[in-house]
Amino acid sequence: MCAALLRPLLLILVLVLGGRFCLGDRPLLVFLIDGFRFDYMDELSGLPGFRELVETGVKVDYVTPEFPSLSYPNYYSLMTGRSCDIHQMTGNYMWDEVTMKEFLIGTNLDSRLPLWWDGSEPIWVTMQKKGKNVAMYYWPGCEVEILGVRPSFCEEYVYNPSLKNLTDSIEDALDNLETGKAEMAAIYYEKIDVEGHHFGPDSHQIKTAVRELDTALQMLNKKIKEKDLGDKLNVMLFSDHGMTAIQWMERVIELDQHINMSDIVKMMDRGVVVSLWPKHNKEQEVLTALSGVPNMRVYDRQNIPERFHYKGGKFVPPLTLVAEPGWFITENKATLPYWNNGTGTSGWQKGWHGYDNTFNDMKAFFLATGPDFKKGLQAGPIRAVDIYNLMCSTAGVVPLPNNGSWARVECLLSGAGPLPRPLLWSLLTTLLLALLLVSRYI
Ligand SMILES: *[C@@H]1O[C@H](CO)[C@@H](O)[C@H](O)[C@H]1NC(C)=O
Ligand SMILES: *[C@@H]1O[C@H](CO)[C@@H](O)[C@H](O)[C@H]1NC(C)=O
Ligand SMILES: *[C@@H]1O[C@H](CO)[C@@H](O)[C@H](O)[C@H]1NC(C)=O
Ligand SMILES: *[C@@H]1O[C@H](CO)[C@@H](O)[C@H](O)[C@H]1NC(C)=O
Ligand SMILES: [Zn+2]
Repeated sequence: MCAALLRPLLLILVLVLGGRFCLGDRPLLVFLIDGFRFDYMDELSGLPGFRELVETGVKVDYVTPEFPSLSYPNYYSLMTGRSCDIHQMTGNYMWDEVTMKEFLIGTNLDSRLPLWWDGSEPIWVTMQKKGKNVAMYYWPGCEVEILGVRPSFCEEYVYNPSLKNLTDSIEDALDNLETGKAEMAAIYYEKIDVEGHHFGPDSHQIKTAVRELDTALQMLNKKIKEKDLGDKLNVMLFSDHGMTAIQWMERVIELDQHINMSDIVKMMDRGVVVSLWPKHNKEQEVLTALSGVPNMRVYDRQNIPERFHYKGGKFVPPLTLVAEPGWFITENKATLPYWNNGTGTSGWQKGWHGYDNTFNDMKAFFLATGPDFKKGLQAGPIRAVDIYNLMCSTAGVVPLPNNGSWARVECLLSGAGPLPRPLLWSLLTTLLLALLLVSRYI
C-alpha cells in the first residue's frame, strides 16, 4: 500500500515543485527575421503592423546574441537554448578536420550532414518526437534530418525569399495552426539582412525593407482577427543578430601582408571571425605574426574568452581571429566578397555582423503577442538563449537542459488565470488517483 501511495504523492510533489516552469499548450507561430537590428523599429509611426504587435504584446529592449553574432550559430541558439560551444554550430562556415567536410552557409549538400546539426536537439525535433507537428517555411535546416527527425512540413530555404513567399507562408501557417494540422509554425525571412549587408544599417533601402515587412505584419494582424485566433495563438518575432556599418576598403585587414598564406592548410570565412588551421609546425609562427596586427585579436583555442561560450566547440580551429567592430578580415582586397549590384560583381558590402556579441550594433529584437503574453509591456533585455524556454513553455513541451534563463523571461508571460490548464489538469487527476487508491485500502 505504501508503494502504491508513494508514486502519486511523488508525482504531485514533482508537479508542484516543478510548477515554477509553467506549461501552456497553445499553437505557436514564430518568425525569424534575419539581421533585424533591435532599433530598426524605434520609430513606429510609419509601421502600423509592428505598432499593433507592440501595443498588444511585449517588446524587449534588445536581445544579446550568442558569440559569434552570425546567422547559423544564432539560429541554433534560438532553437536549442544553448550556446555555441554546446550545440556545436560555431560558424556560417565550418570545417571538420576528421571527415574533411565543409559546412557552407546556403544550400550546399554537405551542410545537410547530421554531423553539423546533431550537437543539440532543436525545439522542432522535440515537438515532432512528442507527436506535435511543426510546419516550417524557408527555415535554414528544416530540410535536414536531425537526430533522425524532420518537421512534418518544410518549404526548403531559398536565397532571399520574396515578400510574396512571406505572405503566402503566413497564410499557409495560419491555416495549419487553425485546423490543428500543425501545433507550431516557423517562418524565416532574409531580406532585412541582405539589404543591411549591401547598403548598410542606416540606408534608405533598410527603411524600405522594414516597411515592406510591416505590410506583411499588417496582413498577419488582419488574418488573426478574421480567423478569431487572437486569444488562441501565440506569435513571437525575433532576429539572430544586428548589423553595423563597415568601410571595407579602409577598414580591412589583409592577412597576406602578415603571414605566408601557404602556411595555412584551411581558412574558413572572411569578415569578422576567421578560422585558421595552420600547418602543424607553423601554428606558433602564425600566432606570433598575427598577434601584433592592429584592429583584430588572434586566439589559440584555450585563450578564447570564456564569456564567448565558444572555445569548447568541436569545429573550433587552432587559431581564431576576431575583428574589432567595423573591421573586416580577408586574405587581401581581391578576395573581398563583392556582390552583383547590377553592374557585374563589383558591389561593395556596406554592413556586416559577427562581432563581439556585447557590441551594441549586434543586438537583435524580440516581440511577442498572444494569450500567454502581457499586453503593452516594454521589458528589459534578454539573451538569444532565453527565447527557447518561452517557446517551450507556451507550446507545451518540457525544455531540454539549456543555457537560457527562465527568470529573465518569466515576467513577459501573462500567467493569466490561476494555473495553466495542463498543470491544473494533471494535479487534479493525480489527486483523484491518489484518493481512489487510498479508498481501496480503507
Ligand atoms: C517564392 O517567390 C518566388 C518569387 O516571388 C517564386 O518564383 C517562387 O515560386 C516562390 N516559392 C514558393 C514555394 O512559392
Ligand atoms: C611562402 O611559403 C612557400 C612554401 O613554404 C615558399 O615557397 C614561399 O617562398 C614563401 N613565401 C614567402 C614570401 O616567404
Ligand atoms: C555597384 O557598386 C560599385 C562599387 O560600390 C559602385 O561604384 C557602382 O556605382 C554600383 N552600381 C550600382 C548600379 O549601384
Ligand atoms: C549550458 O547548458 C548545457 C546543457 O545543459 C550545460 O551542459 C552547460 O554546462 C551550460 N553552460 C553553462 C556555461 O552554463
Ligand atoms: Zn543572420
